[in-house]
Amino acid sequence: MKGNILILIFFSVIVFISPFSYGYDSLDPFGNITITWDFLSDNGDTVDVKVSLYNLQLFRHVEEPGWRLSWDWKSDEVIWAMLGAEATEQGDCAKFKGQQKPHCCEKEPVIIDLMPGAPYNMQSANCCKGGVLTSMTQDVTRYGATFQMNYKKASHHDAGSNFSMPENFTLGIPGYSCGTAFQVPPTKFTKDGHRWQQVLETWNVTCIYSQFLASPAPKCCVSLSAFYNNTIVPCPTCSCKCQGLPGANCVSSDKTSVLQLPQTNDTEPSQPVIRCSRHMCPIRVHWHVKQSYKEYWRVKITITNLNFVKNYSQWNLVVLHPNLRSVTQVFSFNYQPLQVYGNFNDIGMFWGVQYYNDMLLEHGNNGNVQTEVLLHKDHGEFTFKDGWTFPRKISFNGDECVMPSPDTYPKLPNTAHTAITTSPILFISMLMLTIFI
Ligand SMILES: *[C@@H]1O[C@H](CO)[C@@H](O)[C@H](O)[C@H]1NC(C)=O
Ligand SMILES: *[C@@H]1O[C@H](CO)[C@@H](O)[C@H](O)[C@H]1NC(C)=O
Ligand SMILES: *[C@@H]1O[C@H](CO)[C@@H](O)[C@H](O)[C@H]1NC(C)=O
Ligand SMILES: *[C@@H]1O[C@H](CO)[C@@H](O)[C@H](O)[C@H]1NC(C)=O
Ligand SMILES: *[C@@H]1O[C@H](CO)[C@@H](O)[C@H](O)[C@H]1NC(C)=O
Ligand SMILES: *[C@@H]1O[C@H](CO)[C@@H](O)[C@H](O)[C@H]1NC(C)=O
Ligand SMILES: *[C@@H]1O[C@H](CO)[C@@H](O)[C@H](O)[C@H]1NC(C)=O
Repeated sequence: MKGNILILIFFSVIVFISPFSYGYDSLDPFGNITITWDFLSDNGDTVDVKVSLYNLQLFRHVEEPGWRLSWDWKSDEVIWAMLGAEATEQGDCAKFKGQQKPHCCEKEPVIIDLMPGAPYNMQSANCCKGGVLTSMTQDVTRYGATFQMNYKKASHHDAGSNFSMPENFTLGIPGYSCGTAFQVPPTKFTKDGHRWQQVLETWNVTCIYSQFLASPAPKCCVSLSAFYNNTIVPCPTCSCKCQGLPGANCVSSDKTSVLQLPQTNDTEPSQPVIRCSRHMCPIRVHWHVKQSYKEYWRVKITITNLNFVKNYSQWNLVVLHPNLRSVTQVFSFNYQPLQVYGNFNDIGMFWGVQYYNDMLLEHGNNGNVQTEVLLHKDHGEFTFKDGWTFPRKISFNGDECVMPSPDTYPKLPNTAHTAITTSPILFISMLMLTIFI
């Protein structure tokens, strides 16, 4: 009996997470992090290059502890000097005589960003952000990072190319995988806006994110309620983990005073310490249909942090709902529509107001942020029936949240019977989609 229940839970978890198992996010289908490798000058036996990372994702960002860029040299290249970043290990440079040793002799160097405020003589333009990259939407000044290096050329490299590009790039951030480098038109730059110069050669590497690669378990869930029904539909049980199963550690709220927080580790993101719940997610998003006016309706969105050891800085929430094209007012959050598919305008991004609520604090009395959104009732489309006012999809910091199943949505009291005839069919067809896509 117990085994059967476990199998059932396992199966339903598989069904829930299967939409996440692709390196493709329908809310940001082209999003990627691009590494650009510019050959600046050929000095005979060494070359100077400029390496840039650009976070070309609409909303997903790179948070602390930041990127750790790595690659495989094809031959015996060594890095002599680096500005704006550094290799974590110097490696074995014994074959270099004399006092001046290379910066890094590793075959697979791991490069980390410098902290803001690094000594001036170690900096390069657009460097030193502690590995953090914001999304393109949230802060256009901090979505890229650049460092420069001088390295010894390979003693032998492929005929037909002037330079030899390393292989097997990785970003050192869970969930990202990078393709092979490909040559692109040389980067052009200008100092005065009149004359354009260009680098010798430019190569790009594209890295894409897969939520399933990052973590097979979701990290957030959605609960729902509406003014016309006093049922609060909770996050589905076992949305993120199942309480009691191995690896599902949690703390009940009354134990927090004696909680021993684990040692933080600079190189590893800290393990979540979450509050015990039936859903076991570190983040819960609650969507409350709050009020109906003649021409407008109002939604209250609350994001609650259930992780005792993490403050989410620069958090963001992306919502898919057809009525977002008629957003009239958003209170206490920043809002921007994301035009992913032409002019559909049904995807919107919310994020915090600087110095007010751009940091979602660790679990506790202040561990939540909330907004109210006023939307116009578009004639011919708006309805309170069949759960139309609830979101189609929500993601927090770029990870899709688990939604309750549509047959549990709060129902309008007087249309209960019509809803019953339509929603099971809707639910079954959505389930089939989930299985067969
Ligand atoms: C990377 O993302 C940008 C912005 O979304 C997009 O324009 C570009 O085509 C993407 N690059 C690749 C190789 O997919
Ligand atoms: C890149 O990775 C592949 C597969 O692990 C390996 O066979 C290859 O030797 C690596 N390339 C270099 C230059 O080390
Ligand atoms: C090598 O450099 C020469 C001149 O700098 C250029 O004409 C040629 O296209 C380059 N070769 C490759 C494979 O990029
Ligand atoms: C290479 O990357 C740069 C920087 O992100 C981008 O501007 C350029 O369009 C990319 N080139 C190609 C061909 O993808
Ligand atoms: C930090 O993480 C590294 C790499 O996983 C590990 O070798 C080291 O022991 C950790 N340090 C602490 C204090 O946990
Ligand atoms: C989160 O922020 C609060 C207030 O700034 C601070 O007291 C707390 O130590 C922070 N927690 C973590 C895990 O960084
Ligand atoms: C509220 O919604 C729930 C869940 O759909 C439903 O079971 C219940 O009958 C509704 N309550 C009323 C008063 O209609």
